[in-house]
Amino acid sequence: MSADLLEINDLEITYPRGFGKAPFRAVQELSLRVGRGETVSIVGESGSGKTTIGSAILGLARVASGSIKLNGEEIAHAGVRQRRELASRLQAVFQDPFSSLDPSQTVGDVVAEPLRVAGPKLSAAEINERVVAMLARVGIAQSAVSKYPAEFSGGQRQRIAIARALVLEPEIVVCDEAVSALDVSVQAQVLNLLDDLQRDVGTSYVFISHNMAVVRHISDRVVVLYRGRVMEQGTAAEVCDTPAHPYTRSLLASVPVPDVAAQKGRREARMSSIVASGIAPHDGVGCPFAPRCPFAQQKCVDATPPLVELPDGRSVACVRVGELPPPDERSVLATTAAVSTTVTEKS
Ligand SMILES: Nc1ncnc2c1ncn2[C@@H]1O[C@H](COP(=O)(O)OP(=O)(O)O)[C@@H](O)[C@H]1O
Ligand SMILES: [Mg+2]
Repeated sequence: MSADLLEINDLEITYPRGFGKAPFRAVQELSLRVGRGETVSIVGESGSGKTTIGSAILGLARVASGSIKLNGEEIAHAGVRQRRELASRLQAVFQDPFSSLDPSQTVGDVVAEPLRVAGPKLSAAEINERVVAMLARVGIAQSAVSKYPAEFSGGQRQRIAIARALVLEPEIVVCDEAVSALDVSVQAQVLNLLDDLQRDVGTSYVFISHNMAVVRHISDRVVVLYRGRVMEQGTAAEVCDTPAHPYTRSLLASVPVPDVAAQKGRREARMSSIVASGIAPHDGVGCPFAPRCPFAQQKCVDATPPLVELPDGRSVACVRVGELPPPDERSVLATTAAVSTTVTEKS
């Protein structure tokens, strides 16, 4: 048996497209591993399939084929009963704390709920004690227990959502755009909180985000997704600092930076790389990024590029990877600046 906590193999997730039409393949040939205490990010622009993967792990999306194992146990098709048992091991934090927290429940009840549903048998006093202790760990005062989510700011609400997700000390937490709705400075604080809790509890994160700067900050490893396929995966440093796949490079170039001159250079670099190559996959065969790729050639769509491991250990799905020019310095260096700005803003 493998030492990985979460092991996804050859996952495919489809959505029906209506009578007589072939289903839409939202995620294809996805394999992914998450070790204990590790943070693996899934990054990609909107519509790339990130939430679909998170939903499949949580049992909220139907898996067409492939496998999802938690600690060796197959959970891809878990029924209601198995899911209930999984609740103490698998939790989630979503983007919008406004809709993910029940507005009619007090904060105390919000955080206590997983304990009541899936926790060990505890008295009311013991539950209260755990809730208050958990809230303290996320920086929320004891007086919050009798208040309602609406009385808190977005950042505080996200802290409450994190307290709820971590109160059972789950093995793994799926964070889907968990900091995306927050201001940059609050974002950094919440990322640091997730980091601290990970160190204390030893939980693993599947961290879903469209933002490379955020991902660079929190991840051990990064998986870059485009149209449901993995384009590149490797350590956060490999993928974010020296991106190999043209799509990863374009994602990095889209991270805004605070410096006006740097931002202008990046915008120019980005515009010059936006081309219509005229080369497109056909019948589902070929690189999905080819139509937008400045380096696309016919061979990119003759077959779907497999994910191939490079000598440095990362994997890239690009048949031209050995022939590409080095990444545009204007994008990569400016992005490093954006990342360090985020880091210095943490408090
Ligand atoms: N319930 C659904 N029914 C049909 N199509 C869906 C559904 N959910 C997502 N999709 C489609 O699947 C693709 C991936 O969506 P999603 O996983 O939400 O991407 P992301 O989280 O990366 O923005 C998109 O093209 C989206 O329109
Ligand atoms: Mg999403």
